[in-house]
Amino acid sequence: MSPQAFEHSEVVLVPDGPMLVRGVRSIEDADGRVHAVERPVVALCRCEKSSRLPWCDGTHKVIARRGD
Ligand code: FES
Repeated sequence: MSPQAFEHSEVVLVPDGPMLVRGVRSIEDADGRVHAVERPVVALCRCEKSSRLPWCDGTHKVIARRGD
């Protein structure tokens, strides 16, 4: 990816869902592990139930349906 692709970053909080992050090269999780970002936009889990933390795997939708 060209350096220009990372000039601007943007964060969007999805109601009852993930945090969408655009324009970053890496994400550091709460344990200090750095995860490389190779996509223009990534979805970070906010419910902490994803099986692919720190990434959202859609589990938040199941939780919402169950009413947890
Ligand atoms: S926010 Fe999507 S799995 Fe947690």
